[in-house]
Amino acid sequence: MQEVLPNNSDNTNFREISIFDSIICELESSLSILSGKVQSHRPNPSIKINDEYLLSEEEKLLVSRLMRINHVGEICAQALYRGQAFACKDKNIKDLFISASIEEIDHLVWCRQRIRELDGRTSILGPFWYISSFLLGLIASFYGSSVNLGFMSETEKQVEAHLEKHLNLIPHFDSKSRSILLQMQEDEIHHKEVADNAGADDLSYFSKISMKIMSKFMTKLTYWL
Ligand SMILES: [Fe+2]
Ligand SMILES: [Fe+2]
Repeated sequence: MQEVLPNNSDNTNFREISIFDSIICELESSLSILSGKVQSHRPNPSIKINDEYLLSEEEKLLVSRLMRINHVGEICAQALYRGQAFACKDKNIKDLFISASIEEIDHLVWCRQRIRELDGRTSILGPFWYISSFLLGLIASFYGSSVNLGFMSETEKQVEAHLEKHLNLIPHFDSKSRSILLQMQEDEIHHKEVADNAGADDLSYFSKISMKIMSKFMTKLTYWL
């Protein structure tokens, strides 16, 4: 590994990052993500929109539940990409996963902010989704870079299609939620292109179907919990 950590106060000696350092970094990162302590890098696309139409209580409940699903999706994206990066041997591919996960932080923060505006709540199952997605990413990384990237490409493709569904479900006058989902959709398309250009493999039919079943399970459960 090329990364180094200072091991004394004057920074004159350095040591390589050990597996224990990496695990501690991952724990710290997961706690920041799950506790909502992370900050977005770009402004929330809905910030300048003044909704003149007030959503009814039923509409607010529906949209907050949909945004909760999207928030969990972003928790999964964080965990997945960090898991994929964790055991990735190729430095360039590893950096690609890390930068994708950093961009996904914006989505995570925007969804959380919108949920709060709608007086909704985030999922109580966040830690469960984070751990399962991290393990899934870790497993994908053992199949080599092209499969690892193929997993990212397929994930982004399915997320983009899922966002399209939500854009059709939320009230058309909810411009705030729409602006967030539209920017997320644009970013997910870009992430897919990045993975494809880096050499993503097309995953097997079985893998794609399994991913769809898992995401369906997640969306159904998160709608209520
Ligand atoms: Fe995202
Ligand atoms: Fe993405």
